[in-house]
Amino acid sequence: MSEKNIEKKEPLRELVTGYGPVRSGACAPKIEERAASIDLSGKIGLESKLSLDTGEINFAEGVSYVPINRTLRDFVEAGVVYQPEKIPEAALDKVMCRIYRLINDEEVLRLQGLPEDTVNEGFKYDITVLLPYKAIAQSWVGEFPKTTGHYHTPIPGQPVASPDLYQIIYGTGEIILQRRVGSGVNAYRVQPSQLDPVLIGPESGHTTVNTGECPLVFCNICVRAPHLDYKDVIKFHGAAYYVTRGLDGTGRLVLNPSYKEKGVTVSEITGLKPSFKSLSENGIVRGKPFYQYIKEKQDLDFLLRPWSHLSQFDAALVPAKGASAEGEQD
Ligand SMILES: [Fe+2]
Repeated sequence: MSEKNIEKKEPLRELVTGYGPVRSGACAPKIEERAASIDLSGKIGLESKLSLDTGEINFAEGVSYVPINRTLRDFVEAGVVYQPEKIPEAALDKVMCRIYRLINDEEVLRLQGLPEDTVNEGFKYDITVLLPYKAIAQSWVGEFPKTTGHYHTPIPGQPVASPDLYQIIYGTGEIILQRRVGSGVNAYRVQPSQLDPVLIGPESGHTTVNTGECPLVFCNICVRAPHLDYKDVIKFHGAAYYVTRGLDGTGRLVLNPSYKEKGVTVSEITGLKPSFKSLSENGIVRGKPFYQYIKEKQDLDFLLRPWSHLSQFDAALVPAKGASAEGEQD
């Protein structure tokens, strides 16, 4: 189906064309599909299995976490979803996101040399699962499942916000990044491969999107202090770009019109990729489960005291060939 035909059927005032493709990803090999669960122990660094049907992770006995489940309705009610009026009613109560917060927190604190009742010091380790669009509504043509998206607030007493270290463990997705610059927003996208480390700088808002056909599992390490800032994504009804599934089934980026309506200019989107050279200078390498850094007491000072490492954040993401804007915005 041509772009023109799609536009006739589904006019999008802010349609964006000419961008690198949104990655789709088939699910696990057939034998694993039959089993309906796959072993993620080697990729997470903790004994664990992922249910491909429900997106639930079953950890070995003794692994602790705080479970949080969010339905598509939660995201619609937060006002951050693209064209919510087009979502089938039956899809609204499907779980879209499972969060395993503060995994093995007691051990994570102990390995940092912090007492177990620590609240706001050190870092924490979380895993998030985004269900695939197919698990929510087969025929739903709209935005791919995503996180709410957020910025981080400045660390108390410091001029900068906290960074975030991300890694896709399983599945296919991308991260939309955005930075406030004067009265505008600069937008970026990262399409990491599984187990690529992605260091998100202190000033970058970030929204993670599952563009594949199986659950997207990702983990992050960041400071424990409360630091999430949802103001802008609520005000502007989501990130600067929506990653949507078009009528022809392919992914496309759509500029979020709310920014322009509220006087904020959004840049064309630039593709970025992790600089493994820069990350390796901090001891962060491709293919290594993040929990290993915690177990090995890796120095993660750049997460805890980012003001001392500011040049590293810009160096950690570099332009990606083929994922940047080449076309024009309608
Ligand atoms: Fe974050």
